[in-house]
Amino acid sequence: MMERKVYRFKELASTNEFAKGILKESPEGTLIIADKQTNGKGRFGKSWYSPEEGLWFSVILKPNNTLHSARYQLLPLLAGVAVCEAMLGLGVRAKVKWPNDILINGKKVAGILSEFVDGTVILGMGINLNIKEFPEEIKDTATSLLLEKGKAFDKDIVLKLVLKKIEEKYKLFKASGLDKLLQEWRSYSDTFGKRVAVNTPTGVLQGEMIDIDSDGALLLKLPSGNTEKIFAGECSLIHINKPQRTQR
Ligand code: BTN
Repeated sequence: MMERKVYRFKELASTNEFAKGILKESPEGTLIIADKQTNGKGRFGKSWYSPEEGLWFSVILKPNNTLHSARYQLLPLLAGVAVCEAMLGLGVRAKVKWPNDILINGKKVAGILSEFVDGTVILGMGINLNIKEFPEEIKDTATSLLLEKGKAFDKDIVLKLVLKKIEEKYKLFKASGLDKLLQEWRSYSDTFGKRVAVNTPTGVLQGEMIDIDSDGALLLKLPSGNTEKIFAGECSLIHINKPQRTQR
C-alpha cells in the first residue's frame, strides 16, 4: 500500500503548488486536496477553473528507486487511464486525448497537470464533478459528470475510486513494465488511428496519430510519409466534412 499522508483544505491557491513546498519531507503517496482552488493551474500556464463543485487534488510520487527516469513521462498517461477506469466504474464512458485530457462526448471533463521536480512527480488532477455552469471561454469545450449524467457525484467516493485506480496502475506499471499500460491507454484513446492537428511548441503539425511511444510521446504520420515524434503539445481531432459514425 502507498503510505498516504493527507492534507485537506477548504481553499488553497493550487494543490500542485502546495505539493512543491512539501516535496522533500513527504512520503510517496502524499495527497493534497482542496475543496476549491483560487489559482488552479492548467497545462501551458493556463488557469484552471476550480470552484467548490469540483474535485481538485495532487498526489506525490517518488519513483526514483524503482523506475528509470525515462519512464516518468508515462505517469501522466497512467493517471489518464486510472481516471477513465474510475469513470467506467461510475457508469461513465470517458476517453483520453493525448497526452491526458479526459473527455466525455468530446468535451473535457478532467485534466492532469504533472510536474517533475528532482526525481519526484506531482500528479495534479482536476475532475469537473458537479459543475453546472462554466465560464464563457470554456463553456463549449468543458463538461462535468453532473452535466453528462444528470446527477451529482460524491467527492469522496470519486476521490477514493480514482486513488485506488492510480495505485493499482502504478503497482502494475512498476512490476510489469509499460506494455500493458500502453495497451490500456490505446483502448481509451479518442484519437488513436485518427487524423489530428497537434499544437507543439514549435508550430502546428497535422497527420495521423499512429501510436504513442514507450516514453509517452505521440507518433504522428505526416502527409510526407515521415513519422514525427512529439513530446509535448495539445492535440485535436480534425473533423472531416462528412457524416461520421461515432464509436459509442
Ligand atoms: C489541464 O490543463 O488539463 C490540467 C489541469 C489540472 C488541474 C489540476 S486541479 C488540481 C491540481 N492543482 C492545480 O493547480 N492544477 C491541478
